[in-house]
Amino acid sequence: MPEASAIQATGLSLGYAGAGGPVRVLSDVDLIVGKGEFLTILGPSGCGKSTLLRAVADLLPTMDGNLSVFGRTPSEARSSREVAFVFQEATLLPWRTVRQNVTLPLQVGRKSISRPVEPKPDHWLDLVGLSHLADRYPHQLSGGQRQRVAIARALQCEPDVLLMDEPFGALDEITRDRLNDELLTIWRRTGATILFVTHSIIEAIYLGGRVLVLAANPGRVQAMIDLAPLKDENGFCRRESTNVQETAAHLRRLLQEGSLTA
Ligand SMILES: Nc1ncnc2c1ncn2[C@@H]1O[C@H](COP(=O)(O)OP(=O)(O)O)[C@@H](O)[C@H]1O
Ligand SMILES: [Mg+2]
Repeated sequence: MPEASAIQATGLSLGYAGAGGPVRVLSDVDLIVGKGEFLTILGPSGCGKSTLLRAVADLLPTMDGNLSVFGRTPSEARSSREVAFVFQEATLLPWRTVRQNVTLPLQVGRKSISRPVEPKPDHWLDLVGLSHLADRYPHQLSGGQRQRVAIARALQCEPDVLLMDEPFGALDEITRDRLNDELLTIWRRTGATILFVTHSIIEAIYLGGRVLVLAANPGRVQAMIDLAPLKDENGFCRRESTNVQETAAHLRRLLQEGSLTA
């Protein structure tokens, strides 16, 4: 793990307001994500993966403990546009072209942003391989292309932290594999710290430098697994290699254990 930390959680608990008082979702999370690290996150449905990303993005207040982004509060990090989010659905505006969708975040809430960013939509569209479609509208794109627009839109803010919540979950496997490779290339070029939630064990192994496994009932950290030994000198691994399959089987067992506990 690189020396400087991008995200640090200590004794962090997160949850929501319920009818009978606050409902805790994740408890006692201790986590250090290094600057420039690619961390993948696995866990059973409802264990709090999205909740964790929301807290980093300052979309949810912390209940207990401490959470910092580059040594600052999530709110401070958000106001200087250090954090960007990519969701499972691309959520593009249908009446705006691809290029106009990419520049959107720079036109929204501009007053509260302390770090100005020059709009370079074509640069970011080029990086995700879509510059030839800049003048199209979202309905003229495939699901994979729409998701690449969403990634370009997030990158355009030049975030230090990119939060990705099952961004490729709705795509077919071939498209997903291709976008995995594109994302790794983009990650290397930008040096961003990435937190990437997925349901796919193989995707978690292929993309991550480490994988964080969360357990449910109660939501908590179950394990952190270093994936570096699986990667070649360029940071890639073969999905079908024996090592990868063994790690996948190990992760599958952890996920089974973590979804049963009460
Ligand atoms: N806005 C909300 N209000 C109340 N409870 C919520 C809200 N969002 C999520 N939850 C609850 O928090 C738990 C974790 O949700 P989530 O983080 O979305 O899980 P995951 O992403 O791991 O599937 C679930 O039990 C879910 O019902
Ligand atoms: Mg989720």
